[in-house]
Amino acid sequence: MISKADKVKRAKKHFNVGSADMSHGEKRIIDIDGKRIGIFNVHGEYYALHDRCPHMAGSLCGGPVTGTALESSHGEFVYGKEGELIRCGWHGWEFEIATGQCLVDQRTRAKTYAVTVEEDALVLHI
Ligand code: FES
Repeated sequence: MISKADKVKRAKKHFNVGSADMSHGEKRIIDIDGKRIGIFNVHGEYYALHDRCPHMAGSLCGGPVTGTALESSHGEFVYGKEGELIRCGWHGWEFEIATGQCLVDQRTRAKTYAVTVEEDALVLHI
């Protein structure tokens, strides 16, 4: 997996996408350079996902920011990862916002971009 620092280095374009005043679990969908991109705050770290679900090209970022049922003992329900996942509104597939990793198919990953905070502004690197 490519690190955030590598994504920043490889990026050809950088966009100021607003102030870094989002709270955990909040999202902002922007249209930039011909792409719809979701910006997310997960526990104080910022991440960006292409608003195109790798399953059937639905609007991934239009779905809810959520958590999910975690692996647990038989008969036990444990909910976790609150605010760390996005659930596609089309068929409900869940993706880890930080990495784009799909929870139901380890071979599937949503496109991610690096976001940095520079002087209280969010900078998207694409
Ligand atoms: S298009 Fe996103 S889950 Fe099917």
